[in-house]
Amino acid sequence: METIHWPLYGLRLRTPRLELRLPALAELDELAQLSVEGVHEPDSMPFVVPWTDLPPAERARSVMQFHWRMLASWTPQDWELQLVVFLGGVVAGTQSVGARDFAIVREVSTGSWLGQRYQGQGVGTEMRAAVLHLAFAGLNAESAVTAAMTDNEASNAVSRKLGYRPNGLARRRVRDALVYEQRFALDRSRWEQCRTVPVEIDGLAACLPFFGS
Ligand SMILES: CC(C)(COP(=O)(O)OP(=O)(O)OC[C@H]1O[C@@H](n2cnc3c(N)ncnc32)[C@H](O)[C@@H]1OP(=O)(O)O)[C@@H](O)C(=O)NCCC(=O)NCCS
Repeated sequence: METIHWPLYGLRLRTPRLELRLPALAELDELAQLSVEGVHEPDSMPFVVPWTDLPPAERARSVMQFHWRMLASWTPQDWELQLVVFLGGVVAGTQSVGARDFAIVREVSTGSWLGQRYQGQGVGTEMRAAVLHLAFAGLNAESAVTAAMTDNEASNAVSRKLGYRPNGLARRRVRDALVYEQRFALDRSRWEQCRTVPVEIDGLAACLPFFGS
């Protein structure tokens, strides 16, 4: 899908196994359906906003509305790109990358989830590597940050594998309880040392003004 006025629909990131891009409506619906089928075990809550506690139909709608809200509120000063992750052409999950005042701050933050049946196969590592490549190689970022609950072993393992360093704990209220989030940071030189996943970017030139880049 190519558009003149919203060129982000032409942006594609490719890794050995994955394609990341904005979804067509039916593909966004597939992502919503994955959330109905399950993102994590019910006794854990990896998200600060516990959207996966919603009843299934509301949860699915919230996935779609969140996606549209991020597009609708986009400005070069404050953006969040919610990419859908395709594994062998099938919707497997979502990977976001966003920034505020990127033109000056040069820092991105990321977030992600996969349908449960796609977890634990290295997909999470590959998709994070894809958006780090977009940030550092494509947009000339200087820093990338992320965070996950201290007990989120998979997310924290992905961050460590890609070279992020621990960057302090944040205290959060989740499901009316205090939880600790592990923050991580990755600077440009460390990304250059630790990158292992080959990533191709297509269609970026027309999008650069959207990122404030
Ligand atoms: C977080 C998430 C995106 C990671 O994706 P993934 O495809 O499962 O991750 P990968 O398979 O690429 O890597 C997971 C790593 O964590 C490690 N890991 C997983 N569970 C672990 C555990 N209990 N203890 C230690 N390491 C663990 C794996 O061994 C793997 O490392 P390795 O490749 O060196 O063996 C995915 O698990 C997910 O969607 N989880 C639910 C939602 C979520 O937590 N989102 C993030 C919120 S911050």
